[in-house]
Amino acid sequence: MSLAATGITPQAQAEVPNAIEVEHIVKKYGDFTAVDDISFSVREGQIFGLLGPNGAGKSTLIRMMTTLIPLTAGTARIAGHDVESDPDDVRRVIGVIPQALTSDIDLTVEENLSIYAKLYDVPSEKRKQSIDELLKLVDLSKWRSAQTKTLSGGMRRRLEIARGLVHSPKIFFLDEPTTGLDPVSRVAVWEMLTRIKNQRQLTILITTHYMDEADRLSDRIAIVDHGKLVALDTPAALKASIPGSTVIEAQFEGAPGDWEQRLGQLAGVTRVQHLGADMYRVLTSNGSETTTALVEMAVAAAIGVKSLSVQNTTLDDVFVHYTGRQLRDELVKSYAFVMPPRPGMQP
Ligand SMILES: Nc1ncnc2c1ncn2[C@@H]1O[C@H](COP(=O)(O)OP(=O)(O)OP(=O)(O)O)[C@@H](O)[C@H]1O
Ligand SMILES: [Mg+2]
Repeated sequence: MSLAATGITPQAQAEVPNAIEVEHIVKKYGDFTAVDDISFSVREGQIFGLLGPNGAGKSTLIRMMTTLIPLTAGTARIAGHDVESDPDDVRRVIGVIPQALTSDIDLTVEENLSIYAKLYDVPSEKRKQSIDELLKLVDLSKWRSAQTKTLSGGMRRRLEIARGLVHSPKIFFLDEPTTGLDPVSRVAVWEMLTRIKNQRQLTILITTHYMDEADRLSDRIAIVDHGKLVALDTPAALKASIPGSTVIEAQFEGAPGDWEQRLGQLAGVTRVQHLGADMYRVLTSNGSETTTALVEMAVAAAIGVKSLSVQNTTLDDVFVHYTGRQLRDELVKSYAFVMPPRPGMQP
């Protein structure tokens, strides 16, 4: 852990109260530790992004914070209520959208909302108005009488977001609300959440493994890996916390054993990582100078450059920096250009 901002906000700075306070929380399943001593706080009105790969412990964390499973150790307070000693108080102030879609596909959109409103004891005279407002908020007014099974994935997510708000919670937990949606629907969901947050003065905790989303919409981000908190800060501070402002990813043909070391000696380079299979990631404070030097060194050593990409630091790079692994499935997302094969080189 390299960032100082992992603890609970000091009293002196805390003009805005914390909506969520998690201290040294642990969840064990037998010998396996799914969540390993995590602490963080979220101020009222913020969007907090919990970012991590499959199996990192995101859903387990949410389940503990929302009173669904007991804690092995540590504490979690939601709007000041302890999840273990005051679970009913916690449940009254939270809305939860679980990872799996849980609306009833045989009911209409309106019926799905109305059942929840009744479950949460929303008074009958307020129910209709509240449902009308929520349908408008998630842009589903036209679909109120449609059977839920006829909705697209994005529309069903929006219905579940509306359903999570029927009892006017103050703190909203969403577990991967955009996974499986197409890019347009993902953006629609995020824009909707930002709007809803502002209109209803919500605090939002959201999990995702999409770095771009977390970057654009979160006030603060916690990166979780193998149950541990590896970094926590604003997106900008996280990006600034890793050495170098530019990332060069290059794949070479026949690089020698000391190649990593030689890359590290190029102008401007602050860090080199060998990602395997002839692929290297070079962090630099001077992208153009290092790129030129890198290509010149390869040419002089008769080492082929199979691909090369140069880009500004992203949250992906932050993730690689703190975990030593890439979150995305493929090794390299995009190539700025692909070098033509050099004479005599294998294609
Ligand atoms: N009830 C359980 N019993 C045993 N192990 C569990 C249980 N629930 C979760 N785990 C394990 O805990 C780890 C964290 O799981 P969790 O579902 O919290 O991850 P996640 O970050 O939400 O991942 P994903 O992105 O796949 O949803 C995983 O290795 C998972 O297999
Ligand atoms: Mg999960």
